[in-house]
Amino acid sequence: MDVLSLLFSPLTAILSVAYFFYWYGTSTFDYFKAQNIAGPKPLPYVGNLWGVWRENIPKFDKKMTKKYGKTFGYFDGTLPNLYTTDINLIKSVFVKDFDHFVNRRTFSVKRKVFRKMMSIIQNQEWKNVRSSVTPVFTTGKIKLMSKMITECANRLVIKFKTIADSQGKLDAKMQFSAFTMDVIARCAFGMTINSLGEKDDPFMTKAKAVFSPPANKSPLILIPFMFPKMLTYVSDSIFFPKDFYFFVNILEDLIKQRHHSTDKYNDFVEVATESISEYSKSVGGTWNREDVDEIVTAQSLLFLLAGFDTTATTLTNSAFLLARNPEVQEKLYQEIMRKHEKFEDVNHEMILDFPYVDHVIHEVLRMYPPVPRVERACNKEVNYDGVQIKKGVVVTVSAFALHYDEEYYPDPYRFNPDRWDPESEIKPNPNVFMPFGMGPRNCVGMRFAMEEMKIALCTIVKHFRFFPVKETPEEMQFEDGFLGVVQPIHATVGIETR
Ligand code: HEM
Repeated sequence: MDVLSLLFSPLTAILSVAYFFYWYGTSTFDYFKAQNIAGPKPLPYVGNLWGVWRENIPKFDKKMTKKYGKTFGYFDGTLPNLYTTDINLIKSVFVKDFDHFVNRRTFSVKRKVFRKMMSIIQNQEWKNVRSSVTPVFTTGKIKLMSKMITECANRLVIKFKTIADSQGKLDAKMQFSAFTMDVIARCAFGMTINSLGEKDDPFMTKAKAVFSPPANKSPLILIPFMFPKMLTYVSDSIFFPKDFYFFVNILEDLIKQRHHSTDKYNDFVEVATESISEYSKSVGGTWNREDVDEIVTAQSLLFLLAGFDTTATTLTNSAFLLARNPEVQEKLYQEIMRKHEKFEDVNHEMILDFPYVDHVIHEVLRMYPPVPRVERACNKEVNYDGVQIKKGVVVTVSAFALHYDEEYYPDPYRFNPDRWDPESEIKPNPNVFMPFGMGPRNCVGMRFAMEEMKIALCTIVKHFRFFPVKETPEEMQFEDGFLGVVQPIHATVGIETR
């Protein structure tokens, strides 16, 4: 065979196509090697994603950091992702050079309402929506919503009393999920759901469908992360199944009703509508009435998505850690009783200046941050002491790896709320505490979440004592898989009335 016929033979064509596919699936893999940044060996197309699927994110991230150090290179498919728990790098990316890192990775969503959620919009649009929504979470506005939280917490006491008297043990995740759903229904959907976890409540049933779509349990969920361009076409149906429209419809009807009402509700929909409309006017009418309605609907829906499971999981983890650490639980109870000498009820005023409950929740969030990873995508190249971060590269901080680093947290496996005492010698540096992320794009609902968790915890610990039963694990275990919020398993604790 002469050279020309070999060049145009079917074998050459097959080999060229095979080479092209191999090249395409590995073309970025020199990125970290060229900079002498260590990291696990990636596989074509898959990158390093497969490893995480077989374990859960907390275990996986701690293991990787132990093996490769504070900063290492990782590939989501072919996308380079710089993992770091280095305090200086974190500060630079999340705070100092925020202009280079305004967004998370692109998560293109086209459907009406979903496309306006603050967590996925980018650049100037994000800046506008974030500025317009931030006033909703000031102390004054939270104080108004706090009354609704208190009512929900009081209803939870009635439910827990029945459980304590009849069963003596509590499926913590299920009951706290019912509570946080009750709060969200009141504060973000203008509804009162009285069932607190009863199986046939449609709000709860739909929420369960939305929060555990079958795709999340299958390794197929990794495919869009391996082929980010594909994410653009499939993310709508993978991440926002039909059941979401139950909530969108409630919100759209509610917003229409509110246009014809002069009553005051003090809930998220009302306060957000005022705040977003005012912002729009202040910048020369960026949004018309229809835009404002869509933005409000999107943020209310996001309130459910971002605020339900995170808060329920943290309360579950709190019950578990208090059951396993009776001396902390007793101290918290005594502090609550001391507060009661001045305040008759658990409410906004009582928890306003209550350091010990803050320390307990901080320590729960340190040990079990419900959102295990926080990321930023670089939009303008930048260089830190020889680490070059090109446009498009993602920087990720693993909250678990960070929160268990002995350099930052001595004796990290010990549940020790006192480490947060300002007088403590081991008081952590605020830059290494990231349950709510960091910088201008941190969790906008943080103050609301803290209010809700403090009120719930004080109300419950005042009335009940948690203790371990045979189902209570020695250490909290989390579900395997690629989950955005880590899911505690076997979170059953004993409960008795005080
Ligand atoms: C324990 C409860 C919660 C935890 C641990 C939590 C954690 C987080 C984290 C880690 C982020 C990413 C921050 C970053 O990238 O720097 C985030 C973003 C966000 N959270 Fe939360 N969150 C909680 C509750 C809530 C609640 C109750 C709401 C709503 C009222 C909420 C709304 C949001 C929104 C809208 C974003 C996106 C912010 C943006 O992109 O500008 N979160 N949250």
